[in-house]
Amino acid sequence: MSENAGLSGQERTRSTLDPVISLTDVSKSFGSTHALDRVQLTVQQGEFVSLVGPSGCGKSTVLQLCSGLIRPSSGAIERSYENIGYIFQEPTLMPWRTVEQNVRFLGELEGMSRRESRRRAAEVLALVRLEEFDNHYPMALSGGMKMRTSIARSLLLDPDLFLFDEPFGALDQISRTRLNEELTSLFADRRFGALFVTHSVDEAVYLSSRLLVMCKRPGRIAAEFEIPYEFPRIPSIRYEPEFALLAGKVAAALAESS
Ligand SMILES: Nc1ncnc2c1ncn2[C@@H]1O[C@H](COP(=O)(O)OP(=O)(O)O)[C@@H](O)[C@H]1O
Ligand SMILES: [Mg+2]
Repeated sequence: MSENAGLSGQERTRSTLDPVISLTDVSKSFGSTHALDRVQLTVQQGEFVSLVGPSGCGKSTVLQLCSGLIRPSSGAIERSYENIGYIFQEPTLMPWRTVEQNVRFLGELEGMSRRESRRRAAEVLALVRLEEFDNHYPMALSGGMKMRTSIARSLLLDPDLFLFDEPFGALDQISRTRLNEELTSLFADRRFGALFVTHSVDEAVYLSSRLLVMCKRPGRIAAEFEIPYEFPRIPSIRYEPEFALLAGKVAAALAESS
């Protein structure tokens, strides 16, 4: 555990060397379904890892194991995070609460003072560029704004590990690209560990520092790629030849494992 672990969000300095989650030889079966087979996976603090793979290869199962929602059938999982953020495709906001009240929700559950949760909500809403929408209700928001509210809600507790399960899959392409850019800025600022599941090779290459390709039946890690770009990512890298080359290699590995 880091020497600053007791400090709150902004004061805590993060070391990029600490693993926040580590899976060793993790297998998982659901009844007769052998979902995962000896998965090895580590996410360090300050590392953005993407997971791509065919439907049903066990990506969501990996995230659930990382979160502690389910237990492995065999193998070991080491967790060293204090707080976790878990983002799904569906933003699951409470319609009777404003954006600000939705974002303060986890703070209330944790017994945070009203003053502190207000202060933090203002800070994270600014980070996701929603400060002017704090009094809006979810019904009045676009899909992209709902997703940013969902991310802000998790950010309130300053998670060390962020799990994303195809978060932008339901958004239009323009919103999705913008959220990709915002997420790399957020990551550059906060340096949490991230495990991001997506079907989009382009999105995975753009966002991550490391990319894992899974193959199915039973799911395991089939290939690994280091992505050499700095954070925050510059949108124009998507159009560079090196980017296309890398995305092509990932797509080939994905085709081979599908
Ligand atoms: N709770 C569950 N009970 C039974 N089978 C499950 C359960 N969760 C996942 N599975 C099975 O495990 C496999 C992997 O599922 P999942 O992790 O959801 O894949 P992915 O997210 O890659 O599409 C699938 O065959 C799925 O049907
Ligand atoms: Mg899934």
